Amino acid sequence: MKILVIHGPNLNMLGKREKSIYGEKTLQEIDALLKKEAKALSVDVATFQSNHEGALVDFIQEHADSARGIVINPGALTHYGFSLLDALVDSKLPVIEVHLSNIYRREEWRAKSIIAPVAQGQISGLGWRGYVAALQVLVSKLKAKPSR
Ligand code: DQA
Repeated sequence: MKILVIHGPNLNMLGKREKSIYGEKTLQEIDALLKKEAKALSVDVATFQSNHEGALVDFIQEHADSARGIVINPGALTHYGFSLLDALVDSKLPVIEVHLSNIYRREEWRAKSIIAPVAQGQISGLGWRGYVAALQVLVSKLKAKPSR
């Protein structure tokens, strides 16, 4: 079972970027923790980060047929990335949305997610642990439901 883990713009800067908000871990460290968790769950994860919306769309289109679900932190595209939203819908895969920070207690514009209405659920404000929890929940749900 393959799960896509997708990170949007600026998340390559984790570990340097606003550490009091996003935490100390680098994206490489978070991806390594997810790969470790995936191994424990006996699933594969394909991780991808881009600062470009079109590259995220390309990645989803290329992998949708071979994957069973998506964990995504869309970064700022959460709030306005309509082509990313369309690609997620077209993938027909279950999506869990993750945010390191709590988007509901920051600037007002961050509180609106255009992705949330098409996601199975959202984890916001739990730091890197939110990604691991999202992977666990997604895999648990998929294992309980054998077909796509
Ligand atoms: C973020 C929240 C977004 O508002 C922001 O633009 C990000 C990161 C988060 O993980 O908390 O880039 O998605």
